[in-house]
Amino acid sequence: MPTPAAVLCGLGTSLPERSVSNSGLIAENQLDSDEDWILDRTGIAARRLADSRTSTGDLAHAAGRAALDSAAELAGAPVRPDIVLLATTTPDHPCPATAPEVAHRLGLTGVPAVDLSAACAGFVYATTCAQALIAAGLYARPLVIGAETYSTTLIDPHDRDTAILFGDGAGAVLVRAGTPDEPGALLTQDLGSDGGHADLIQVPAGGSRRPHGTGRSDRYFHMNGRAVYAHAVRRMTNSARDTLRSTGWRPEDLEAFISHQANQRIIDAVGDRLGIPPAKRYGNLRDLGNTAAASLPLALADTAARRSVPPGARTLLTGFGGGLTWGAHTLTFPEARPHSYAPHTHHGTGHNTGEAPR
Ligand code: UT7
Repeated sequence: MPTPAAVLCGLGTSLPERSVSNSGLIAENQLDSDEDWILDRTGIAARRLADSRTSTGDLAHAAGRAALDSAAELAGAPVRPDIVLLATTTPDHPCPATAPEVAHRLGLTGVPAVDLSAACAGFVYATTCAQALIAAGLYARPLVIGAETYSTTLIDPHDRDTAILFGDGAGAVLVRAGTPDEPGALLTQDLGSDGGHADLIQVPAGGSRRPHGTGRSDRYFHMNGRAVYAHAVRRMTNSARDTLRSTGWRPEDLEAFISHQANQRIIDAVGDRLGIPPAKRYGNLRDLGNTAAASLPLALADTAARRSVPPGARTLLTGFGGGLTWGAHTLTFPEARPHSYAPHTHHGTGHNTGEAPR
C-alpha cells in the first residue's frame, strides 16, 4: 500500500466583526504614529479586533465548524474529524489547552485534541503534524485550526511598535488521507527553529521563567522589529528553497505563493529572492494585518474565496514566527469552497454571516 497523502478538503474562517482602520487605531489608542507610515512600511490598512468577550476558542470553534461544512459540501456528506490540532499563542487559559473544549463544542467529545504553540509559524507546524499522522496511518481526518486574539491578550494597545501590526481571527482546514495527485494535496515540507534568538519576540512574564514579572509591560508582547524582519526574510526564503527542491519544483513552476502575512515588504523581499512575480503572491494583509497562527489559513481561504487560483495549482506556503520558528509547504491548491461563520461568544454553533471569507 502506498503511503497516504494529506489532502486539504475543507476551508473555514471566522473573524471578529469590528474592522479598525489605521487612523481609527491611532485615534483610539492615542498612538504616536501616522496612517501613511503604517500603510507604507507594513502594507496594513485595517485589522479585525475582537471584543473583550470573544475568546480564541470562540473564533477557533466557528472556523472549525466552517471548515467542516466546507468539507461536507465538497464530499456531499458530513465529515467527522478524528483529531483536532489547534495552533495558537493566545489560548483561552494557561491551563487547560483550548483544543479539547473547541472539539467538545464541535460535537467531537472523545476525539483527541491538543494545542500547538509555534507563534506565527504554528499553522505550518500543525499541518506538518497532520501530514505525519496521516502518513503513519494513525489518523485519517485531522482538523487543523489556527486561531488568535493578540489584541485582547498580548498587545499593549499604546505600543506603536506592535499595536499597529496585529489583528484577530481564525482559519481552519480539514485534512484527509488521499493521494498526491488530488487538488489540496500537501507534498513536501520544511520546518526549523532557532531558540538562540528567543528574545527577539517575547512576552517576558507569565510563564515559569518569570511567573509574575515586575510590571504591566512584562505581560505584553515585545518584538525587535528590525532584527525579526531580517530573520523572517532569510529563514522563509531558505525554507521555501529547501521545500521546492524536495518537491522537484523550480520557483518558476509555482502558480501561487502565500506567505505569513506580517509585512508586505517581507512578503515581497521573499518573493523577489525566490523569483516569484508579484502577480503570483496572494494574501489579505491589507485588510487583516498579522493574525499570527491564523494568518496562513485565512490567506489560503481568502485566495480560494476569490477564485484567484484554480484547484490543483502548484502552491507554496511559508510561515515564520517567534521562537524563532519557521516552515514551508508545497501543495496543490485545494478545491473546497471556504465557509465563514461569526464567532459565538457563548457555547453553541456559529451562525453563517454570509460574508465572503477574508
Ligand atoms: O509575525 C511575526 C513576525 N513579525 C514580523 O515579521 C515583523 C517584522 N518587522 C517589521 O515588520 C518592521 O520592522 C516594523 C513594521 C515593525 C517596523 O518597520 P521598520 O521599517 O523596521 O521601521 P524601523 O523600526 O526601522 O523604524 C523606522 C522609523 C524610525 O524613525 P527614525 O529613527 O528613522 O526617525 C522609527 O522611530 O520609523 C519610526 N517608527 C514609526 N513611525 C510611525 C517606528 N514605528 C513607527 C510607527 N509609526 N508605528
